[in-house]
Parts: sequence; structure tokens; C-alpha cells
Amino acid sequence: MSTRFPSDFTWGVATSAYQIEGSPLADGAGPSNWHRFAHEPGRILNGDHGDLACDHYHRFKDDVALIKRLGVDAYRFSFNWARIQPEGRGKVNARGLDFYKRLVDALLAQGIQPFATLHHWDLPAALEDAGGWLNRDTALRFADFTEIMVGALDGQVQDWCTLNEPWVIMHEGHVAGAHPPGLRNLALAPTVAHNLLRAHAEGVRAYRANGRHRIGLVVNIEPKYAASDDARNHAMDHAARIRAEGYMNRLFVDPVFRGEWPEELIEAMGGPEGEAWREVLSESTAPLREPIDWLGVNYYSRAVVRHRAGGFLDTETVRQPNPHTAMGWEVYPPGLTDTLVWLHERTGGIPLYVTENGAAFDDPPVVEGRLHDQPRMDYLRTHLQAASNAIERGVNLRGYFAWSLLDNFEWSFGYSRRFGLVHVDPATQTRTPKDSARLFAEVVATNGECLED
Ligand code: FCB
Repeated sequence: MSTRFPSDFTWGVATSAYQIEGSPLADGAGPSNWHRFAHEPGRILNGDHGDLACDHYHRFKDDVALIKRLGVDAYRFSFNWARIQPEGRGKVNARGLDFYKRLVDALLAQGIQPFATLHHWDLPAALEDAGGWLNRDTALRFADFTEIMVGALDGQVQDWCTLNEPWVIMHEGHVAGAHPPGLRNLALAPTVAHNLLRAHAEGVRAYRANGRHRIGLVVNIEPKYAASDDARNHAMDHAARIRAEGYMNRLFVDPVFRGEWPEELIEAMGGPEGEAWREVLSESTAPLREPIDWLGVNYYSRAVVRHRAGGFLDTETVRQPNPHTAMGWEVYPPGLTDTLVWLHERTGGIPLYVTENGAAFDDPPVVEGRLHDQPRMDYLRTHLQAASNAIERGVNLRGYFAWSLLDNFEWSFGYSRRFGLVHVDPATQTRTPKDSARLFAEVVATNGECLED
């Protein structure tokens, strides 16, 4: 199999603020919703929280050296908004801003290109108290925050992204209740989706002020396949597939690129939920259609779905006889090719980045400074081949970021799920590159040629 990446392809690793930084209240920072949520009993597996995490707040220089050793071109990270604006609005906390300035300086000193995500889920708690993503005003506060960050790091950070995975904020925070604010009400989802899309567009407009042109959005896409090919079930399963795709994959892509809402959701939901969707979906998409420069996709797995009356949106996922990761996610590399081709077609060929891809496995222990994580190496290799296949099919793929640099705080799963290329010992904070880190460094050094069979 041939594996080809353009010579200017961007190779990177990714993290996010709450998952690695620790010291959530240091130097005048306000509490974020995640800080507060993680300290509520029963919210996070094993009672874990991000108070220390990977102690990146104090060890960022060592971590930049670690990134440098991987040889990558770029580092994707995010800001904890509450460090900058402790109340989510108004005055800037200079000491919080200073942390990110020092991080960016350290990256640039090593020739590593910073890819900054403005919002990766940790909202100032004060904004959540004011209604969070249910409040239209949050979108305007996000635009202010964007202006502050872009102004402060102008000329240093070239590549920006507004939101990471708005679907997860909407679904896990307001429908499934596994993330803050911990609500479980499908009828709230359309308002949240709309406000997130408004925030994204307001952020892009704030960023554009000086004619800047390197901003994107990051969405999670889990391609949906119909379970059954036989004639009897096919129509029903196909309709289930369309509903699942509309809710998860098109909701945050189509309004931005096509000016369309996935309207079949109105009927699929019915009742008060359907009414709530009808109301929001009747709003014009024009203000949301702010042109962006690239789209990032986080790909981990796919779902094979079938019709089941009474299931969520009358669908259910059918478990496949393939290997699954420690998250319970099916390993399905062709889904990445399909996703990239689908996005390429749906967006009219906008530059795409894989902004996250990776896997949690139950790793063996570190022995004599080595950790043999063969399943993660296999996952990486096959998914990089899948990305290369998409390029061969004409997809305008510009870069790939492995999730994640470090074993870190995996949200409601705490530290129990390990995605790092680099092992982190929670007791000592010792970093040990896993075998997958060595593989990734070789991929970067050879621009993917070492993947060829
Ligand atoms: C994505 C998140 C990221 C990480 C991975 C495993 O949904 O963006 O922070 O948790 O999943």
C-alpha cells in the first residue's frame, strides 16, 4: 500500500487545558465549570479531578521539550478562559494571560507552530451560572474573549480554532448529563446548538477584524452506517442512519457550510423536543455561515445503527465484531477515509485537518523506561493509512494531530483512560514516551513513508 502525504503536511500532537494543566485556580484564575463539576461527588470516575492533572502549568517547558523530541511541526492546545477572565467577562487577569504567552514563546523558540483552540469545554463558572450555552449572551462573551486572545498573541499564534466539538458540549452537557452543567433534557439541545454556532460565528467575526485568515472550527464526526442490507429492514435502518447522522454529524457542519439545518430532526423528535427544534431550526442560518479557513475533524470511531422504536431518536448502535478500545469504541480505520471524503464533498473542498485521532488502551506498565503499546501503534498506523487513502481520493487534507501528547484527565472517566503517546506516572509526574511515540516520531521524520508496507 502506498502512503503519501504532501511535503508541506502539518504533523502535530494535541491536548486541552483542563485535561493537562492542573492549578485551576492559580494566579487569579476563576473557577471553570469543569473545575466545579469535577469536585461534585459522583460526577467523575474514582472521584478524579483536574487539580494536578499533568501539572503542565508548572512543567510546560519540559513538555515543550518533549514535543520537540517528537519532531512535530505543530502543537494544538487550548486556553482556560477563566484564567484570562475569571468572571467570564470584563477585566483581563494579566497573570493568567502570561502563562499562555510563556507557553507560546517556548513553542516558537523551538520552531513549533502553535494551533490555539479558544474553547475546549472549560467555561468560566460565572458564565455557566448566568445560563451558559442556554444564554444567548454567552456567544457575545466568547467574541470578547476571542478578541482578547487574538489581540494578545497576534503575530505569534497564526492558527486559531473557535470551538472544540460543540456537539459534545450540547449532548454530554445538556442531554446525557455526563459533562457540566449535567442537564438531561433533549428539548434544551437546539438552543444550545444554536448558541454554540452563534458563538463560533461571532468569534470568527471578532478574529477577522484585521483581515486575518487562519481560523477554523473543530467538529467530532462519527460516521453512521446502516446495520442491514436486506430489503426488509434496509429502509428503516437507512432512515435511522440519516437521523443519527443529522443529530451528530450534520448539526454543526451544515449550517456553517450549506446554510441548512438537519430538518428531519423535527419530525424524528416529535413532542416538546420536536417543537423546540422547530423553533430554533426556523431561525436563519445566515449569521452562522461566516466563512472559515479550515475545518478540523476529530475522528475516533464509527457507529453501525438500526431502527429501534423507543431508542434514542428511535435508533440503536449495533456492536460490531471488531476490536474495541478501552473507551468501548470500535476500531474502524476506513471510517476515517469515509469521514474525510464526506467532509470534503459536503464543504466544497475546504482545507481539512485531522485535529484529533488516537486511542485509549489498558497499557502495560513501564519497564526499564519502555512501554510497549502495540495496539496503539496499530491504531495509529492504520488510521494514518486511512488518512493517506483520503488524500489519494482527492481530499484536501493539510495535517494530522495525534490525540494525545500525554496520558491525561479524560473527562468523566478521570485518569482511567489513557490516550497519551507519552505515559505520565500520576504519583511522580514522570513522562515516559511509549513505543507509539517512537513510531509517531518516525512517521513525522519520514513524512509517512515508514508506513508503507
Ligand atoms: C474528544 C475530546 C478530547 C478527548 C478525546 C478522547 O472528544 O475533544 O478532549 O477527550 O475525545
